[in-house]
Amino acid sequence: NTGGSRKAKRRAGEHAATAVEDGMVVGLGTGSTAAHAIRAIGDKIRDGLDVEGVPTSFQSRQLAIEEEIPVVDLDEVPGVDLAIDGADQIADGQLIKGGGGAHAREKVVDATADRFLVVADPSKRAETLDSPVPVETLPAARPVVEREIRELGGEPSLRSAERKDGPVVTDNGNVVLDCEFGPIETPDTLAEQLSTLPGVVEHGLFVDLADEIHVGTADDVTVERL
Ligand code: A5P
Repeated sequence: NTGGSRKAKRRAGEHAATAVEDGMVVGLGTGSTAAHAIRAIGDKIRDGLDVEGVPTSFQSRQLAIEEEIPVVDLDEVPGVDLAIDGADQIADGQLIKGGGGAHAREKVVDATADRFLVVADPSKRAETLDSPVPVETLPAARPVVEREIRELGGEPSLRSAERKDGPVVTDNGNVVLDCEFGPIETPDTLAEQLSTLPGVVEHGLFVDLADEIHVGTADDVTVERL
């Protein structure tokens, strides 16, 4: 994270937070860019704004609590008005998410929101999606899912962390397979194929979900409406 990208992320997050209005239920995304939006919402709450937040991860829940944002679950609200969330790669309005392993809950919250705002720095933009696709998988199903991913032309790799023995375990108790597919020319097709695999809890392809993409730069924010 260079200073420039930190500033760009901050600009994007703070800009998206200006869309939050009194009375809204807001989906709180995960990652360093969404964290800037959560902090900005906290500032607005301390200035009198009345909103509730639906976290997408342990991380965003903790930050929301620190920021005094009233935290609610999906069963306590009629719906989500606005979600603000980061992305790992963006091409043509389609996203790869799950770099933090939070994409399963993120997808539920972002997809159900009336409006989903993506916040990012320019490094996330690509011509074609080609990053590994995170696939959250039931631990017991891992060998089967790995075989199926290879059948689809992907190369799965079990996510591990530097300072942990054994695989990364998600907030939902599952493992993550980072699946290298090379350039993904038809993300909608791959998304459907991955969704049908038994044992796959959720994958990180977010197809046709984003409504706006807010990309911060050194001194500005560009907003792309989809
Ligand atoms: C979490 O699993 C991801 O989907 C994040 O939204 C993504 O990794 C963005 O993170 P940064 O904003 O920190 O780059």
